[in-house]
This record gives sequence, C-alpha cells and structure tokens, in this order.
Amino acid sequence: MEKPDRIPTHVSIIMDGNGRWARERGKERVYGHLNGVESVRAVTEACVEWGIPYLSLFAFSEENWQRPQDEVDTLMSLMFKSMRDEYPTFLKNGVRFRVLGNRKRLSPKLCEEIEKLEKATGQGENLTLIIFLSYSGKWDLQQAACRMAESGASDLEPFLVTAGIPDPDLIIRTSGEKRLSNFLLWQAAYSEFVFTDTLWPDFRKDSFRAALVEFASRDRRFGKVKK
Ligand code: IPE
Ligand code: IPE
Ligand code: MG
Repeated sequence: MEKPDRIPTHVSIIMDGNGRWARERGKERVYGHLNGVESVRAVTEACVEWGIPYLSLFAFSEENWQRPQDEVDTLMSLMFKSMRDEYPTFLKNGVRFRVLGNRKRLSPKLCEEIEKLEKATGQGENLTLIIFLSYSGKWDLQQAACRMAESGASDLEPFLVTAGIPDPDLIIRTSGEKRLSNFLLWQAAYSEFVFTDTLWPDFRKDSFRAALVEFASRDRRFGKVKK
C-alpha cells in the first residue's frame, strides 16, 4: 500500500466500537476486544512502514473501571497477554513501548510486566507506541497541577504524563462517536480530528491510510494567518 503524503509526527487513536462489533455477530463484548488486538497490530505495523514516529492508543479510560468486573478483568488480562506476545515483534521492529495512566489502579503483576517491557524496548528508535491505560485527561491535569504546586514551578506541561512527547497532530476516533471522552484534554489543543464509522475491530491498514489522506488535506493554521 502506497505511503500517504504529509506523514504526521504523532497519531492518536480512540479505539471504540468493540462491543458493538461483537453484538452485530451475536457474541459477548469480550469477543470484540479480542478482535481489536489484530487492528492494533495492523496500525502499529503501518506506522513502522510509513515512518510515523509516535502512535498512541486509548485502550482503557479511568471511567472504564465502572464497567462490569468480568469485562474489566478480560481487558486487563488481554493487555497482559498482548504485551508478552508482541515483545519479540517490538524488538524486531524497533518499537519503544510505553504505558501512560494511573498505575495505582493497575494490579502489581500488570505493573511489573509493563515496567519490564518498557525497559526492554527502551532503545527502540523507529516508533514510540504509547498505550493509555487507566488514563483520563482530567486525572492527568489534576496530577500535573499537584506536582507543579509542590515543586513551585509555573509551567504545567513538564508535569503531564505525556511530558517530552509531541502533542498529537491527528486524533482518530472509530465507531461513529464524535467526542473526546476525557482523553487528551490539554494535548489536543491543536489536533486535527478524523471520525470514522468503522468499528475498531474492522479498522485496518486501508482505513488508517484513508484517515491519513484526510489529515493531509487539512489546512493547519495554529491561530496564525496563512502566508
Ligand atoms: C472500545 O470499545 C474499547 C474500550 C473502551 C475498552 P467499547 O468496549 O467501548 O465498544 P462499544 O463502544 O461498546 O461498542
Ligand atoms: C473511550 O471509549 C475510551 C476508550 C476508547 C478507551 P468509551 O466507549 O469508554 O467512551 P464513551 O463512554 O462512549 O464516551
Ligand atoms: Mg465505546
């Protein structure tokens, strides 16, 4: 597949619609999450191939803890299993893996695995893959504000969990919903948005390319007057 023009530095995806995808097939919601893993793989590979340096994926929000316990448990064990399975591919493809969010709510076993993988892939130079897990934009702003106040500094940005990561140029949301759902509230200040009706388990390289083509047609002005 041809590389799209004007490759963004950071693409962020709100992966939505797994439950509806499963329901359409008469299956449990969990079946949708399982099939969503293949979409993560496809998009990650495309980023490596097309030279997109940062990909971030909203995998689980702070609000998602309020879902039924069995769904939460499945999502967490899926996260654990995927990290183990993808480890060799990350090393092979030069992927640096990071998880951002409120780790206090994650199990010690999962935290340990995350730390291990982050350390092992720390030298990856082709793509930084960021998974937002137990993340919400308001939580991020709160923790940053507290730490900023403690330190006496006056710039919030270095205290956000995304410090050092460029703001997303493009935020894609699948499944037809047109909202941020408490995602990157600060960092999305000048992001372009692409909304697609495609449900996450159906979102593969072709849908990703279509979103990048749409991004390439946007005129980004950042409040200035176009020359
Ligand atoms: C996205 O799919 C995955 C998570 C939010 C964890 P959903 O589970 O939200 O699927 P829908 O929106 O109910 O179809
Ligand atoms: C947003 O999806 C969170 C993630 C994709 C992880 P939700 O399905 O939780 O969002 P709402 O509830 O439809 O806003
Ligand atoms: Mg949803």
